[in-house]
Amino acid sequence: MKIRVRDAHPADVKWMSENTEGWTVTVEKQEGAASLAEALHALIAEDPDQGVCMGWLHSSLQRAVGDEPGYVRLYELYVPPEFRRMGVARALVDELFVRVPDQEIVLSAWDRELYEVWLKLGFSYVPGFGEVSGECGYYGDMVRPPVEATS
Ligand SMILES: CC(C)(COP(=O)(O)OP(=O)(O)OC[C@H]1O[C@@H](n2cnc3c(N)ncnc32)[C@H](O)[C@@H]1OP(=O)(O)O)[C@@H](O)C(=O)NCCC(=O)NCCS
Repeated sequence: MKIRVRDAHPADVKWMSENTEGWTVTVEKQEGAASLAEALHALIAEDPDQGVCMGWLHSSLQRAVGDEPGYVRLYELYVPPEFRRMGVARALVDELFVRVPDQEIVLSAWDRELYEVWLKLGFSYVPGFGEVSGECGYYGDMVRPPVEATS
């Protein structure tokens, strides 16, 4: 099975809203919704041969505030049950990582039960304030740091 990742289009919004754990996805900005208008990258994974959508993610830019640097928030990642454990989430996250080489990516409201999955997908656990590294109290953040310049 092939997996192709592309930008989400307005025509995808209905499918995205029907395939989520409760998010509403809209084209234009809307209170309480994830919108394409506000997305930094909204991505769809599809099977190019069948033309079938297999998963999606939504990310947005958190601008710098005062001394706090900006970062990219991974807001939602969803793969319907029938397409799980096939590398769909990995394809989506890998594409986001490539598109965002120079900024931190932070998982928004990450599911603690999927702790190991986030590590497998390339995120690192940053302990919360006062949390001893290695205890994994899960109060911290899941982040993908900016990619270091190699030269
Ligand atoms: C979490 C989720 C996105 C994973 O999607 P997926 O396409 O099945 O993930 P992948 O196939 O790319 O798997 C990536 C890695 O995680 C592992 N993995 C995936 N789901 C797992 C699970 N439930 N338990 C343990 N490991 C899991 C895979 O084996 C793979 O590891 P590997 O590289 O060592 O083989 C999907 O299960 C999902 O949409 N769940 C419901 C929504 C959700 O919880 N979203 C995240 C909160 S925003």
